[in-house]
Amino acid sequence: MVKMIQKTTAFERIVHLLLALSCLALLLTGLGFLYQQELGWLNTIFGGVHIARGIHNWGGIVFIVSLIFSLGTWVPECLKWTSDDSKWLGMLGGYLSREKDKEIPPQGKINAGQKLLGIVVFISGVIISISGLILWLSVPSALWVLIHNVCALLFAVFVPVHIYLATAANPGTFRIMTRGDVPLYWAKKKHPKWVKEIGAG
Ligand code: HEM
Repeated sequence: MVKMIQKTTAFERIVHLLLALSCLALLLTGLGFLYQQELGWLNTIFGGVHIARGIHNWGGIVFIVSLIFSLGTWVPECLKWTSDDSKWLGMLGGYLSREKDKEIPPQGKINAGQKLLGIVVFISGVIISISGLILWLSVPSALWVLIHNVCALLFAVFVPVHIYLATAANPGTFRIMTRGDVPLYWAKKKHPKWVKEIGAG
């Protein structure tokens, strides 16, 4: 029997699901508004511009609530930046290396790339939420539209990369957000500092 250890709680997984679904709905409807000529069909999929607008506004509220609830989960981890993280990022986690068994700097509960995603989601998540509320509840100004769209662009770049790395690129990772547990041998290889920290090794 393979020994498993728990990486996420049910609460964390539900919050991540809400964050992911709302973020994807916001990205798709938002792109439909921004590029009406080219991507207006995205809003048609959601039932037309009017319904897409409602999904975007209320999806934004779900996003804000799930962002607040997820802060305690990964923000403290993201702030624990060490020299191993800088080294990991410098070599992009070895993902682009041709060497199969390249030495990777040891990582904590989440790796440096995941920390970077967490920091981007947190900072641009706060700014996109504030600018979104201003655009929804007051007279839109060009500056707030620009700020909102620049943050959306960051999400449009980081989120597809995150989804790819959390699924196809690293088989077995997806279960962290469905079942929550991972094999101990896998955790020892990918997150040795965390395994030591919780005394599971
Ligand atoms: C819909 C497809 C998605 C999948 C399959 C997915 C999968 C995952 C997995 C497996 C983890 C845990 C990684 C680990 O602990 O080793 C994770 C963490 C995380 N996800 Fe997602 N995710 C998705 C969408 C999103 C979206 C849209 C966002 C952005 C708002 C997001 C933000 C995060 C953050 C901030 C973390 C914690 C930091 C990290 O581990 O990278 N995820 N996700």
